[in-house]
Amino acid sequence: MASDGEKSIGIIGSGGMANHRAERFHQLEGCHLRAVASRNSETGNVLADKYGMQYLPDWRDLISRQEIDAVVICTHNESHGEIAIAALEAGKHVFMEYPLARNVDQGERAVTIAKQNGVVLRLTHSENVSPMHARLRELVRDHGHLQASIFTRLTPGRGAHPEVLFNLNISGPPALFFIYHVYPVIDLFGPVKWVEGSALYESLRADQSYQCTVNTVNVAFQNGGIGQWFWAGGINIQRAEEYRRYILAGGTLIQQEGAWLLSSRSGIEEIKPADRPLPSLEELFCKDIAGEVTNWQQHAEIALQAIRVSLAAEQSAQENRRVFLNL
Ligand SMILES: NC(=O)c1ccc[n+]([C@@H]2O[C@H](COP(=O)([O-])OP(=O)(O)OC[C@H]3O[C@@H](n4cnc5c(N)ncnc54)[C@H](OP(=O)(O)O)[C@@H]3O)[C@@H](O)[C@H]2O)c1
Repeated sequence: MASDGEKSIGIIGSGGMANHRAERFHQLEGCHLRAVASRNSETGNVLADKYGMQYLPDWRDLISRQEIDAVVICTHNESHGEIAIAALEAGKHVFMEYPLARNVDQGERAVTIAKQNGVVLRLTHSENVSPMHARLRELVRDHGHLQASIFTRLTPGRGAHPEVLFNLNISGPPALFFIYHVYPVIDLFGPVKWVEGSALYESLRADQSYQCTVNTVNVAFQNGGIGQWFWAGGINIQRAEEYRRYILAGGTLIQQEGAWLLSSRSGIEEIKPADRPLPSLEELFCKDIAGEVTNWQQHAEIALQAIRVSLAAEQSAQENRRVFLNL
């Protein structure tokens, strides 16, 4: 039972992230894991037993329960928007895995309902609690305007569940399931004016699953500068490669083998993460729902801008044209 002042939490889904979040919330004071709803009764019951939660087969049942204050949404991408909207409408606080939604209308509605109903909608973008990202933000502020942001990822694999990840219906286009590479760039450089996307899917089947993808997203930022993301997955390569560059008028931020460097005409120096301690996402959420003043609204707006870019890339690829964002 939740003790005085504690918030009761329900988890939706019982896969990898549901287990990870349950373990984290279980360790925190101020919240109590009460129930788990999952369509998978086997993994759902295992998770329920591990933390003394009730198991429910249907998430709609969970969000209708009066004793539940907040829900943690850990299902696949295509259901995030629907579940979040229903939970927020029921007056529950929501902590959810990215992406915010599979379509922009759902994302906008979720953010609007959260604000109208005075409940929290916290997305789990880890940049918001990352000391390195905090330092990059300071460097971006101090090193002049953006000229270009570049991201490249090449990977041989298709994840632990390729039938889920490499599936346009379930996980969405690559720019949506790789949203964790779009979000930090939008957080650093602000909203986007237009988006151009192109996409190649090999062995695309009727159920929208595919074998291999090559994708590009190009954008112009409202504040100036251009951005580019390139992903290729399931390709013929020995091991994954990743490359990030933020080219600013006063120097270039380079990610190399896990480290960040600042390179300029005067030399190259390693970037150290900010040394102030930052709360975890779960701790932040506990503060959010305890009514402490936090910044979840600002983060939700950035998450919304990030899905606008990802989904405009899908539209651009489908319609073979540049898509302008009205922000
Ligand atoms: N924040 C992060 O660092 C991070 C990292 C990885 C993933 N993610 C995100 O976390 C989410 C979950 O990923 P995961 O790796 O935990 O996936 P997972 O291991 O496949 O687990 C997903 C769980 O949700 C259930 N589920 C899926 N769709 C559902 C629906 N429509 N209704 C009810 N239950 C549903 C699945 O049931 P079945 O077992 O029946 O399929 C499973 O229990 C994804 O959106 C992913 O993008 C975030």
